[in-house]
Amino acid sequence: MKVGFYGHVRQYHSIKSEIDDRFHEVMESGEFVMGPMLKRFEKELAEYMGMTHAVGVNSGTDAIWLVLLALGIGHGDEVITTTNTFFATAEAIWFTGAAAVFVDSDPKTACIDPTKIEKAISRKTKAIIPVHLYGQCADMKAVRAVAEKHGLRVIEDNAQGFGARGNGFRIGELSDAVCTSFIIQKNLGTFGDGGAVVTNNPEIDRIARKLRNHGSDKRSVHSMGYNSRLDDLHAGFLSVKLKHIDQWNAERRKWAEKYTRGLVSAKTFTLPTEAPGFYHIYHLYVIETKKPEHRDQLLKFLNDAGIDAKCHYPIAIHQQEGYPWGKQARIVGPLIQSERNAASCISLPMYPELTAEEVDFVISKTMEWDASHA
Ligand SMILES: Cc1ncc(COP(=O)(O)O)c(C=O)c1O
Repeated sequence: MKVGFYGHVRQYHSIKSEIDDRFHEVMESGEFVMGPMLKRFEKELAEYMGMTHAVGVNSGTDAIWLVLLALGIGHGDEVITTTNTFFATAEAIWFTGAAAVFVDSDPKTACIDPTKIEKAISRKTKAIIPVHLYGQCADMKAVRAVAEKHGLRVIEDNAQGFGARGNGFRIGELSDAVCTSFIIQKNLGTFGDGGAVVTNNPEIDRIARKLRNHGSDKRSVHSMGYNSRLDDLHAGFLSVKLKHIDQWNAERRKWAEKYTRGLVSAKTFTLPTEAPGFYHIYHLYVIETKKPEHRDQLLKFLNDAGIDAKCHYPIAIHQQEGYPWGKQARIVGPLIQSERNAASCISLPMYPELTAEEVDFVISKTMEWDASHA
């Protein structure tokens, strides 16, 4: 049996008529850029998130970058985040000319460790970017408390957490803006690239909206900006998929539970932790080998068995060759948990369209390896 890492085509087939109808609707409308479908999706997205404004942009990276710009963050400023995230979180900070300041992650959730933030704050600090890694919200209440105490902005990197919830808080409730990626492999992904800024702050909305469109909110009138728009075709696909996202997230949780039941007795690796009261949407189901030297062995074993397991992310940002490429960066270390996470993580196949047989196969192979290495 082969088990793929993504279910994009299966997902397309499961909603093919809806997607195809929407494709034709946009094609026949003759409006492909900044058209009515984008407006419609932005409205639906803001409603889904329980927030007032949503701005479609061309990627999750640009969403973070444009929010930072909208908040006036740039040269001479510092923004605090983690290094065990996708590279783009830091890249977006560096695009603005600001310095990225890295703190360690929580040993259980792999999201930012709020107890490490205060020590990293300097006179230059302007914002914190918690990442809802793997589909679980960071501890936003604690992040928000530090931010309020020090007058800092909070920007949620929600590329991986679409539809997740915290214990007693919603995404967007405790921050200035939420930045989302719609690249195909995300829980809510289009057939290509896309992203959005979602906020309750009309100024962030106004500025991000202009910045994504060459600094223009009126035809032929410009200030400095960029081309970072979400196309209407993608908006149309996302509008269709938004109706299914809660069901798809529930399916992911079902597979996560099955994995956890099947793998709970393993001796050589640990399983993902859902923090009490949190609603994890398992963008990724990540196990961690107890011995770092086991990681590549187990990964190879699974790959050789036809299971497309991967790593997110095997090289933490501060461990990448050439770091920090002449950019401003500060590590308030040690980054023990981020480095452990990078050295030991394995992502098992996780998508709503998996079958029970496939999940059973992944469990049996993973446990087979565990039994021979315990
Ligand atoms: C945590 C995180 N932040 C930011 C991004 C950047 O999003 P995009 O690829 O849409 O630019 C991604 C994913 O790709 C991500 O996983």
